[in-house]
Amino acid sequence: MADILLQVENLDAAYGAVQVVWGVSLRVEQGKVVSLIGPNGAGKTTTLKVLAGLLPAKNGRICFRGQDVTNEASHKRVERKLSLIPEERQLWPRMTVEENLVMGAYPARLRPKARENLDRIYEMFPRLKERRGQAAGTLSGGEQQMCAIGRGLMADPMLLLLDEPSLGLAPMLVEEVFQYVRRIAAQGVTILLAGQNANYALQVSDYCYVMETGRIALEGPSAELVTNDHVRCAYLGATS
Ligand SMILES: Nc1ncnc2c1ncn2[C@@H]1O[C@H](COP(=O)(O)OP(=O)(O)OP(=O)(O)O)[C@@H](O)[C@H]1O
Ligand SMILES: [Mg+2]
Repeated sequence: MADILLQVENLDAAYGAVQVVWGVSLRVEQGKVVSLIGPNGAGKTTTLKVLAGLLPAKNGRICFRGQDVTNEASHKRVERKLSLIPEERQLWPRMTVEENLVMGAYPARLRPKARENLDRIYEMFPRLKERRGQAAGTLSGGEQQMCAIGRGLMADPMLLLLDEPSLGLAPMLVEEVFQYVRRIAAQGVTILLAGQNANYALQVSDYCYVMETGRIALEGPSAELVTNDHVRCAYLGATS
């Protein structure tokens, strides 16, 4: 059986008294790309935040590499090689591209490897290397997303939680971002990708969970979900 990197059981999450994630169970096998799709407000970002430790779980259990991390602080999870690249990117706009990237290598164990990781990221994203001295705030939208992904990779994750990587990007750049996702996966990083762009998410992922109003409505191998009537009508724009 393949190694299960992440196993989530019956996860509930709430903002104050308002519960928005209900009984979410999912698993991510090592080496796979798994997607979490669903409409605005379905609870995708909330789920990823709980997985990363930025929001507490109300109920349920999160196991990463066989350890229960449900109540562990976010930085501890990063140490365990579980990293989130948030929807809002959160770059430091006045710092250079390279300074932003280096900030990603904050777990102490990574500092000696920072240079090596930086070279690897520049190899993967040559445009970041070209622009390494430029203030991150002056990058184009696509370059900023690239920089945020690069910074996440500086923490040398085994599992990358990638929230809405194509947010606000022109169609051509969306295509490009999904090519990076493939490139990162090819380097052996396991990916859990949340997004509204079902078309790309299904193309790039091996397995997919469909989230609707806080619950997993449907799941299956991406190649099978592409032919599912509900997915085709609700997410892929099919008319019949
Ligand atoms: N900080 C917050 N405080 C209160 N409610 C919130 C907060 N963040 C999100 N919510 C609510 O939780 C629900 C789920 O939001 P979430 O951001 O997880 O959805 P999403 O699936 O990521 O949507 P999108 O595709 O628009 O990014 C929504 O109803 C939203 O209004
Ligand atoms: Mg979201």
